Amino acid sequence: EAQEIKEKYRPQFHFSPKANWMNDPNGMVYNNGVYHLFFQYYPDDKIWGPMHWGHATSKDMVSWKEEPIALYPDSLGYIFSGSAVVDVQNTSGFGKDGKAPLVAIFTHHNPILEKQKTGKHEYQSIAYSLDDGKSWTKYSGNPVLPNPGITDFRDPKVSWYAPQKKWIMTLATKDRITFYSSPNLKTWTRESEFGADAGAHGGVWECPDLFPIMHNGKQVWVLIVNINPGGPNKGSAGQYFLGDFDGKDFKAYSKETKWLDFGADNYAAVTFGNTGDRHVLLGWMSNWQYANQVPTDPWRSANTIARDLGLKSVDKEIYLISVPVKELDALSTPGFSQKSMQVKGQVDLTEKAKNATGLFRLDFDTKNNADFAIVLANQSGNELVIGYDKAANQYYIDRSKSGKTDFEKGFGEKHTAPRLAKSTTISLTLIADAASVELFADAGLTVMTDIFFPDYAMTKLYVKSVSGITIDNLKYSGIRPSMVLN
Ligand code: FRU
Repeated sequence: EAQEIKEKYRPQFHFSPKANWMNDPNGMVYNNGVYHLFFQYYPDDKIWGPMHWGHATSKDMVSWKEEPIALYPDSLGYIFSGSAVVDVQNTSGFGKDGKAPLVAIFTHHNPILEKQKTGKHEYQSIAYSLDDGKSWTKYSGNPVLPNPGITDFRDPKVSWYAPQKKWIMTLATKDRITFYSSPNLKTWTRESEFGADAGAHGGVWECPDLFPIMHNGKQVWVLIVNINPGGPNKGSAGQYFLGDFDGKDFKAYSKETKWLDFGADNYAAVTFGNTGDRHVLLGWMSNWQYANQVPTDPWRSANTIARDLGLKSVDKEIYLISVPVKELDALSTPGFSQKSMQVKGQVDLTEKAKNATGLFRLDFDTKNNADFAIVLANQSGNELVIGYDKAANQYYIDRSKSGKTDFEKGFGEKHTAPRLAKSTTISLTLIADAASVELFADAGLTVMTDIFFPDYAMTKLYVKSVSGITIDNLKYSGIRPSMVLN
């Protein structure tokens, strides 16, 4: 049964581990009616340390139950990020009695070789499970992809490329992506490299993903490349490219970076495997700029809400759009709606919203012809401001007065995001949990995710506009806790 966890700053419908350090989501895969989420985990402290794969399961991607640790460090190193596949055709031979194995493909990071500065301390290994992810056996032939002499060589995302009946591994290699292929997940052949003349290079490339989405009858390949630092609002962020993939080369339509999320807190985001035509993204809701310093206890970090991805054309440019999975609706509690509302100065929605917990979803439409802001506040004067700046045609989130910010000097800086849509109507969806907001503007064309640490729950809600706006189709609903404790 889901329940509220009364720890300060504890997310109530976003996954966070009961205790200790978490970073990237790993090995997300759907199997036998269950969504698996593994994650970079250090069970002995609240700061990053020797990495394990923690584990959580869910039937709907919004109510998560933490499970025992799946993978422990071993003589080959720490267990860094990676992916998992259902090997339906048993290409690996790990299957037994007709049961398809779950195979995890991850980076072994060897701290001893790292200290010796061999430059070859990261390599790829595999493990399999025949009991739906409960227990794992590491392959005796590890590593399956040795290091060719590239210092940063990690985060394999593997998927089945049906036209050529082979597995494709998308791997982060310094600030490039290298593609490998394999018939059986055990032997890998280098196919090509991407990135020398494309994308942002303000940091190292990490946690990539590659998958096709149909758009107007055409298959468009999406290449996600997380980068740290070098994000649009400093530190960690996710960029993506759209293009063609033929089983060997990825050819981007454009060399320019597009951003998955302009907020400061959506990193290492990749999609679930084995979900058919559906592509669901989940990220780590933090930033390496301050992840080790955020004031939570006894855990550190949560994940974003799961998001359905799609494509949308704006004039001649195609963009990835992301919206909260519809499964989230099942957590809605009664709220209120209003067809039309005038906002001149400030309108206080707190009473109508009966916003007792600060956990909610707010949707509305308005025009792009005036500045406006949504303000989350509490009795101690903390304020988190989410707004639209007409002159700059930008959305923004200002957490400078949102509560505790002094653990890192840049934390209070204002984050901005371009409005990419061309229509005059702005449609917003805002999701607020205890310590995060996720803004999906223009049906997910511009997305911002930011965490914050208020002194008390943000139970007050205002909409403001100095010059005045009309809000249409406003809908507010509460969201109930979904974490299941063991
Ligand atoms: C990204 C990352 C990955 C790496 C993991 C280590 O946040 O640096 O590249 O595999 O975290 O925990």
